Amino acid sequence: MFKVAIAGASGLLGRALVRELAAQTGWQVVQTAFSRVGAQQVALDVRDARAVEDFVAREAPDAIVIAAAERRPDVCEHDPAAARALNVDAVRHVAAAAKPRGAWVLSISTDYVFDGSAPPYRPDAAPNPLNAYGRSKLEGERALLDATDNALVLRLPLLYGPIVAWQESAVTSLVPAIRASAQAGNASAVMDAWATRYPTFTPDVAFVIRELLTRCADGDAVRGLAQWSGDEPMTKYEIAQRIARALGIDARLTAQTEPADATPRPRDCHLDSGRLEALGIGRRTPFDAGIRAVLDAFEAEHAKP
Ligand SMILES: NC(=O)c1ccc[n+]([C@@H]2O[C@H](COP(=O)([O-])OP(=O)(O)OC[C@H]3O[C@@H](n4cnc5c(N)ncnc54)[C@H](OP(=O)(O)O)[C@@H]3O)[C@@H](O)[C@H]2O)c1
Repeated sequence: MFKVAIAGASGLLGRALVRELAAQTGWQVVQTAFSRVGAQQVALDVRDARAVEDFVAREAPDAIVIAAAERRPDVCEHDPAAARALNVDAVRHVAAAAKPRGAWVLSISTDYVFDGSAPPYRPDAAPNPLNAYGRSKLEGERALLDATDNALVLRLPLLYGPIVAWQESAVTSLVPAIRASAQAGNASAVMDAWATRYPTFTPDVAFVIRELLTRCADGDAVRGLAQWSGDEPMTKYEIAQRIARALGIDARLTAQTEPADATPRPRDCHLDSGRLEALGIGRRTPFDAGIRAVLDAFEAEHAKP
């Protein structure tokens, strides 16, 4: 039976993938987590080479998806060594354990490997990360592809999807400020209107990953570099406007037209998804439908007695 291991099954993307694979009959799925280890999950610190080796030897997966990472740019900027341990060294440990056993590795990367000055970016475009997060993810890509040919790096842009806390995604993290701005006496919420983003729905990414796993199970694994992206360009200011509309509130938003982040960020890293599209792989949920589903599910969960 085809066996898939997921590192980082407790995260924003990992949970969406677990949900997607639950619908897949005939596969065995092993989930790992680190600080939030659920009943169905194995505890694994992917920074620990020996623990990774033991896990892969014990479980003998046919495919390993690495969704574990430090994805917060500000945290990476403040502690690049800790970011590298997770975003580079851990990827190397998984690759080293997978290679002798012939397991295919799919590792998630980011549009922040590019500098955002010349979109759209094809997978073979020259990377030039502007911050520590992007640098660590690029190094992680190279660590994987240098270690094994039987691997795929999947680059993704800004993600949103079902959450357990607003802060889990840079899309939903805007919600508290949007809400507060609608209350009488409060100042308007300042939102970035400089950088263009392509918010991508985690259930769509999970669907793409399932299609890639199916190819692997069929002996036709996709290898090298691939990218997947939503196709609706918007700034965070526009994202906030759409969230306010979905919430049905009269938010007061101010567009910030110059970059104001402490950590440098690229302006427009639109990822070309052509390689996967040519393989007939992909699905895109319109942003307004996706964000409404996320908001409704979160509010329903929190309205529970
Ligand atoms: N979120 C985005 O907007 C975005 C955009 C582009 C690319 N990406 C990439 O997509 C991937 C998934 O991101 P995400 O948003 O799902 O991240 P996330 O929600 O922050 O989840 C991170 C995951 O990593 C796990 N983890 C942390 N430290 C670990 C360790 N030492 N050993 C094992 N697992 C560890 C966490 O486990 P616990 O929770 O159990 O500690 C969690 O499952 C990452 O590669 C990220 O770089 C994300």
